[in-house]
Amino acid sequence: MEKHIVLLPGDGIGPEVTKAAKNVLEAIADRYQHSFTFESHDIGGTAIDQHGTPLPDDTVKAAKKADAVFLGAVGGPKWDKLPGHLRPEKGLLGIRKQLGLFANLRPVKAFQQLLHASPLKEEVVKESDLLIVRELTGGLYFGQPSERRNDGKEVVDTLAYERREIERIVDQAFQSARVRKKRVTSVDKANVLESSRMWREVVEEKKAEYPDVTVEHMLVDAAAMKLVTNPAYFDVLVTENMFGDILSDEASVLTGSLGMLPSASLNEKGVGLYEPVHGSAPDIAGQDKANPLASILSVAMMLKHSFGMEEEAEQVETAVQEVLGEGYHTQDIHLFKGKQVSGSELAAKVVDQIRASDTTENIMRCYV
Ligand code: IPM
Ligand code: MN
Repeated sequence: MEKHIVLLPGDGIGPEVTKAAKNVLEAIADRYQHSFTFESHDIGGTAIDQHGTPLPDDTVKAAKKADAVFLGAVGGPKWDKLPGHLRPEKGLLGIRKQLGLFANLRPVKAFQQLLHASPLKEEVVKESDLLIVRELTGGLYFGQPSERRNDGKEVVDTLAYERREIERIVDQAFQSARVRKKRVTSVDKANVLESSRMWREVVEEKKAEYPDVTVEHMLVDAAAMKLVTNPAYFDVLVTENMFGDILSDEASVLTGSLGMLPSASLNEKGVGLYEPVHGSAPDIAGQDKANPLASILSVAMMLKHSFGMEEEAEQVETAVQEVLGEGYHTQDIHLFKGKQVSGSELAAKVVDQIRASDTTENIMRCYV
């Protein structure tokens, strides 16, 4: 298959982890005789420095034409003092909006090899395998510009949803649940927020279309608590933009490190943007310390969701498992008997695994 991928390395550790993602994609292309072509564009703080805007038109144009987009990270202290519309994060929010990426999938799975690195007790985190489905282009993040204001005395952000925006993310959650354990937990704040009451109504209406999936409602504060007391309770957790942002960071550390969590953001046509959930980590940028695994696992999501390459995706996940199984890790994870390596070394180990699997299979083929 031929696929064209747009890379948006961005800021901080973004370029390092994007390089790891690209190396893995190239290894997969060689291993399975695909042809992947790449094109890099600026976004975030780097784009502000180069073009005076966090989201240049060229970046949007290229992303719209691509088969898939990979994004590293945006943001950093260098740009913190800029006004809201000029901040690096605006680049990320802008591209999500422009590509219509309303569905953000954030899977959180406990890696057996890293159980003891989790802040929770092993027996609590052991069976965790959940998918956070976060609404990504509405809610508080995208309140009406005309209502958003700060005059020094009063400040206003608005939380608005159109019914159809809730419907499509709820549909996504039910569909994701169908290929998992068939349980949806819809998370809201219906005891306080009007938007949450409509959210509940939509979930209640939609559940008739998915009789094979069980669904329940949970208030966001209770969900935050449940995530640390019994994370294995959840299968698919669906929620609005801001709640999803917070809960997914909370859930991510269950796996031992935020540096392990991948994500996919999809639009109605299935075109996706793939990015690690961690940020730009300016404190370790340029030191080759960043954990590349969240990015590499995001590549696995790209292969599966945008290209329909199930086997290739599995190959990437297996390679990650094997490398962890051999004890390799970056500095964000503390393993008792682990072998700490740099980010690029860890990525190279994954690439070696993928390439080695090729050889083993070829040798096997010769013998059969
Ligand atoms: C995320 C990030 C972004 C968000 C920021 C960088 C705007 O935290 O992808 O979770 O809040 O959506
Ligand atoms: Mn976040």
